[in-house]
Amino acid sequence: MANLTVNGEKRTFSGDPNLPLLWYLRDEVALTGTKFGCGVGVCGACTIHLDGEAVRSCLTTIAMADGKSVTTIEGLSPDGEHAVQKAWRQLSVPQCGYCQAGQIMQAAALLTKNRAPSDEQIVEEMSGNLCRCGCYQRIHAAVRLAAG
Ligand code: FES
Repeated sequence: MANLTVNGEKRTFSGDPNLPLLWYLRDEVALTGTKFGCGVGVCGACTIHLDGEAVRSCLTTIAMADGKSVTTIEGLSPDGEHAVQKAWRQLSVPQCGYCQAGQIMQAAALLTKNRAPSDEQIVEEMSGNLCRCGCYQRIHAAVRLAAG
């Protein structure tokens, strides 16, 4: 049994405690903004926040989320107006868009813990989020813009 909060709503799950949060969120809660890429923690497409920290939901079991607060791209901001989302729109960051929820969640977590990251810190923090379209320059610029 796991008791967790998802985007501010309390939820209880009594199924397999080893179920990855990725599949819990997509299949049980119908929050499909979180994407499956590699399933082994190397692409970042499935990035969510667990108690405010960016984590890979493909490697995080629902048991690991017991008593914790999960935030997905759908819950990052009630109106889609988080500074990172605004910067993403302003700079038209995505190409295919598949990795973007994970990129945005990673960037938002970075800016929560460091409001004024250096270019090196942005590169370091975003380096685990892969983009097959190669939008890295726009991603970097949008994080810079969101930091203000
Ligand atoms: Fe989780 Fe790739 S799907 S890191």
